[in-house]
Amino acid sequence: MPKPIKPASNLQSNKNGVAKAAARNTDSAPSQPVPATSSDAAVAKAAQTGILVASMPFNPTKAGEHGFVNGLAPQAGATVALASRLPTGSTLSEENSSEKLGAVAAEGVNAGIEPLDRVRVDSAGQALTTNQGVKVADNQNSLKYGVRGPALLEDFILREKITHFDHERIPERIVHARGSAAHGFFECYDAATDLTKAAPFKEAGKITPVFVRFSTVAGERGSKDTARDARGFAVKFYTDEGNWDLVGNNMPVFFIQDAMKFPDLVHAVKPEPHNQMPQAASAHDTFWDFVSLMPESTHMLMWVMSDRAIPRSYATMQGFGVHTFRMVNGAGTSVFVKFHWTPMAGTHSLVWDEAVKISGADPDYHRRDLWERIESGAYPEYELGVQVFTEEQAEQFSFDVLDATKIVPEELVPIRPLGRMVLNRNPDNFFAETEQVAFCTAHIVPGLDFSNDPLLAGRHHSYVDTQISRLGGPNFHEIPINAPVAQVHNNQRDGMHRQAIPRGRVSYEPNSLAGGCPFQAGVAQGFVSVAASISAKEEQGKVRAKPEKFADHYTQATLFFESQSPVEQGHIANAFRFELSKVTVPAIRQRTVAMLRNASEALATKVAKGLGMTTMPEPLPKAITDVAAPEVMKSPALSLLHRPGDGSLAGRKVAILVAPGVEADFVLKAQTALLAQGVVARIVGPHIGLMTTLSGDELDADASMENSPGFLFDALILADGAEAIAALSQDGHTGEFIRDQFRHCKPIMCVGDARHLVRKAGLPISMDKSLAQGGTGLIVAEAGEGGDAMDAFMAAMRKHRHFGREMDPPLL
Ligand code: HEM
Repeated sequence: MPKPIKPASNLQSNKNGVAKAAARNTDSAPSQPVPATSSDAAVAKAAQTGILVASMPFNPTKAGEHGFVNGLAPQAGATVALASRLPTGSTLSEENSSEKLGAVAAEGVNAGIEPLDRVRVDSAGQALTTNQGVKVADNQNSLKYGVRGPALLEDFILREKITHFDHERIPERIVHARGSAAHGFFECYDAATDLTKAAPFKEAGKITPVFVRFSTVAGERGSKDTARDARGFAVKFYTDEGNWDLVGNNMPVFFIQDAMKFPDLVHAVKPEPHNQMPQAASAHDTFWDFVSLMPESTHMLMWVMSDRAIPRSYATMQGFGVHTFRMVNGAGTSVFVKFHWTPMAGTHSLVWDEAVKISGADPDYHRRDLWERIESGAYPEYELGVQVFTEEQAEQFSFDVLDATKIVPEELVPIRPLGRMVLNRNPDNFFAETEQVAFCTAHIVPGLDFSNDPLLAGRHHSYVDTQISRLGGPNFHEIPINAPVAQVHNNQRDGMHRQAIPRGRVSYEPNSLAGGCPFQAGVAQGFVSVAASISAKEEQGKVRAKPEKFADHYTQATLFFESQSPVEQGHIANAFRFELSKVTVPAIRQRTVAMLRNASEALATKVAKGLGMTTMPEPLPKAITDVAAPEVMKSPALSLLHRPGDGSLAGRKVAILVAPGVEADFVLKAQTALLAQGVVARIVGPHIGLMTTLSGDELDADASMENSPGFLFDALILADGAEAIAALSQDGHTGEFIRDQFRHCKPIMCVGDARHLVRKAGLPISMDKSLAQGGTGLIVAEAGEGGDAMDAFMAAMRKHRHFGREMDPPLL
């Protein structure tokens, strides 16, 4: 017998009950929409969800996904205004809060990007706890059965502590493992909206927070800072439109032209696989074997053999984006750009003998320098500028702008300054910030874009790929130092170490269940790639090959060498001589000299002579002989001397050498005068601690010649006082201290009888007063006149080095 059909009135009266019951199930629901007016939260949620979904009967943006023109201007995704937040919540219980839960997620907010103070920890006044927050009563002893009995597995405090310790290390970076970093800000000079709509350049005075990591390339995490190497100069801009990473180096070119060769290059320069030597050095067989078979590296080799590879400080080196990038303005017009960071303190470097000695006495030399500059308020500052050129101009250049072994000479395209960057805060925690920061060239924001440089393309892939294993999974963007200040909302989910707790059940797009959110931003707000077209030529099919102009391997190597001062040229020749003398296979040396002959006959000859080669090898055959004539034959901007800086001495270090009986009035005056300029003037004695001065007062030496040898200082003052001079002259460290200062061409000032110390050190020069005028960096003051000579001393320091004194081989 068929079931009787219920009367309509009965169905209606039962509907609320059915809805109530159904809304409490997670696997099925009534076949009809439920009443929207219910006071029952579950029913109301179901009802409002139904209305929300029904208000998007189809995907209105679907049609716009097709065709080239639509691709240039993607539309924003469709969204529906929510009647309440009920339908988009994960749970009806979200308002039940606790000390742990906090409140319901604030609307449209990703709390994971809040400023870093949300994760800073200060333990003042706090007891020691386990990771579970349990206070630890005894942090000295493990749990044992009796004081002399066996340790117990039950000791969860010991096991937690040891287990965490056992996992403290993470893989170091494949390259650039050794680095140091600082926070700061970028300040825009004037709106550069004619060039770009990128957030940092939108208006004059706009401030964008930055985190900058400087690094060496080849050495391992614990290697020395002063290795001969390129330096990484990686800047993370936390812009209000997303993170932009400008991951550059302190040299504007690179060894190779295509990412395909990067693993080969790195394998060649890293310690050799059989014996893991040498550490942080390119002076070995595999490196020179590789580069001498890769003549495109000649230009970069010039830079790496120059003093650029041994900077005095991270604050005194330039930075470069290396590749050609694009800037795009609000009208969608794009131009090519090359990024340049110019240090306000000027470009200054070490000399090789000094770098070698520093690496023994203070392997943390650059890390310490950066830290101390910031702690003392001598904030490193750099100007950001761009060389701007159009695609049409680029096509006319004698070189290919997609070739990372080429620069665009500044004399051809000048640098347009955009703003300044100041590094004014040291990290709180090296691991959490400096080690866990993750840069990637692919991190750009609207207003920026890439060129087709094939090296750059490989980089876009490589960084995130390696960070997935280095930082333990795909969620490293949530590590506080990597999180942007711009909102992050997407449908990526799960994975190792996920921090975010997304509200709601939607993790796909398009959706109607969350009112379409987060919605596709569209052209008005979102990132749109420049529609760069590639001309339709026959050779533009899929192919593994390089453009023809990439084959000119030497013109710009010659340009670099010819643009250096004679002193810098000498240093380059000496560096090649040193590196190649460490190569054990003569044929590799020969091949390198043969390569250098194509760049500079004078350089090749000098290097060959320095290596004791009796005959010159034939120049390497060139990949092409018919190269385009360069626009620029000499580029003064390529010399370090071109950027002496703003004359500030802040952050430099001076040693004032003292011993008991020293004339302390002058010492203190000199120290005060130097401190006023931001110079760190240290009182260096035969040992640290108090000593009695000539006047019977006490003076505290804060450094000793043993713990702070002369080559760690930028300049030296030898104070007067017969007894002190007698004591110092009996100490072998004194002679080394003075000789290194002299050999490294640094300013030396001596007062009164201190000139005897100079004589005893065997300097090939007699210290008489006329030297002060000679521009030698040697300042001589009569007894009692030291204070008057301080101006001359500081003027000599402003010149940084006095290379007129340099000799090869050194006399001392
Ligand atoms: C112009 C050429 C290049 C420059 C200027 C450059 C610069 C840098 C810098 C500055 C870092 C350190 C980032 C940091 O401080 O954390 C770095 C790391 C790295 N680079 Fe490059 N690089 C270049 C070429 C390449 C290429 C061609 C590849 C691979 C195809 C590559 C792969 C890597 C990797 C895997 C890391 C380690 C990233 C990490 O673990 O966080 N680089 N590079």
